[in-house]
Amino acid sequence: MENANAILLCLIISFISLPSPLTSLPTCEFPAIFNLGDSNSDTGGLSAAFGQAPYPNGITHFHHPAGRYCDGRLIIDFIAEDLGLPYLSAYLDSMASNFSHGANFATAGSTIRPQNTTRSQSGYSPISLDVQYVQYSDFHQRSPVLRKQGGVFEKLLPMEDSFSRALYTFDIGQNDLTAGYKLNMTTDQVKAYVPDVLHQFSNVVKGIYEQGGRSFWVHNTGPVGCLPYSLDLFPITAAQINKYGCATPFNEVAHFFNCKLKDVVFQLRKDLPLAAITYVDVYSLKYSLFTQAKKLGFEDPLITCCGHGGKYNFNSKRRCGSKIIENGKEIVIANACKDPSVKVIWDGIHFTEAANRWMFKQLVNGSFSDPPIPLKMACHRMDH
Ligand SMILES: *[C@@H]1O[C@H](CO)[C@@H](O)[C@H](O)[C@H]1NC(C)=O
Ligand SMILES: *[C@@H]1O[C@H](CO)[C@@H](O)[C@H](O)[C@H]1NC(C)=O
Ligand SMILES: *[C@@H]1O[C@H](CO)[C@@H](O)[C@H](O)[C@H]1NC(C)=O
Ligand SMILES: *[C@@H]1O[C@H](CO)[C@@H](O)[C@H](O)[C@H]1NC(C)=O
Repeated sequence: MENANAILLCLIISFISLPSPLTSLPTCEFPAIFNLGDSNSDTGGLSAAFGQAPYPNGITHFHHPAGRYCDGRLIIDFIAEDLGLPYLSAYLDSMASNFSHGANFATAGSTIRPQNTTRSQSGYSPISLDVQYVQYSDFHQRSPVLRKQGGVFEKLLPMEDSFSRALYTFDIGQNDLTAGYKLNMTTDQVKAYVPDVLHQFSNVVKGIYEQGGRSFWVHNTGPVGCLPYSLDLFPITAAQINKYGCATPFNEVAHFFNCKLKDVVFQLRKDLPLAAITYVDVYSLKYSLFTQAKKLGFEDPLITCCGHGGKYNFNSKRRCGSKIIENGKEIVIANACKDPSVKVIWDGIHFTEAANRWMFKQLVNGSFSDPPIPLKMACHRMDH
């Protein structure tokens, strides 16, 4: 029953009208994806800037570390596959990147607001959403100039009209919520700054729209109170743990954020008359993985696959891939579990490829979206 009021409020403002039968609409043929976000959608940004996500990240799909904090693919990878596009290269990655069909500005640990702390102090990425937006703008302005030089640039950079026809995807906000708790703020104090966080988010969407972006795909934030990372890091009383083992204050804050995010999306639709903005309820999908794990084919959803010890097989000092030296030999002490395909949580913070695939399958047809249109239709504005 956590925050039933907030959920109700969200329902009231999210009126949806689908004027034409969906089947009569053409599919969108997105030529590119531009993604902004945090680790939920980082395909190599933080790794390029601060060192590779270590083995055993990547073991399931890529069979080597691939810049993702996951054993395999992220939701953004399944989105790219579904749209017939290559996986997104990280904008910050200068090795073998190919941006002809998009670029990824996300980095693990990114927040919407700049944090005024260094990465070593707080763990948050300095590549916050405002920086990602600057990088996107630079990329957008310089691409056509470089492309005109021809040769390899023509094969590495998007066509000029790709910027207006692209799908702009967002998955960010979770770290803004944990940032307050890390500063020992109360839930009310965290809630109090959420409007400022979302105001800054909204400005970025407006900026991209001004530069010609039209199709936006916005993931809401997940149940951060169900992550072993939160359960391990923050002080939580027994009364705050629900029957699924999740910490209710953090989930309540995520709900609050999502509710306000929905308001912001609603307002953006009014302010940006040519924008098609799809709000995707990833929260509900992630939460189902904890509440209905067994039914969905998963085991012990709160137990980390790749970790080391403790109640959740998670130790923040011995994260996935941590090594020790024993008898002069390096050994990985936080290794992968036997079967990541039945696990929900990969490393205490991020979901496994199996969980990401299941979520993608649920959301691709629009049944978790507002308006409820499939991914391939997300260029169509539905409310006029
Ligand atoms: C960082 O500092 C600036 C300037 O004092 C302030 O406006 C901003 O809100 C701060 N950011 C956070 C996340 O506290
Ligand atoms: C970049 O990827 C596109 C699409 O896969 C491909 O057509 C193009 O040749 C690639 N560019 C280079 C330089 O390999
Ligand atoms: C938060 O509280 C803990 C425990 O009292 C303390 O160790 C830590 O320094 C505090 N952090 C900040 C940023 O005030
Ligand atoms: C969307 O796809 C999911 C998973 O395949 C399925 O269970 C659901 O019924 C579909 N919903 C609609 C509206 O087609």
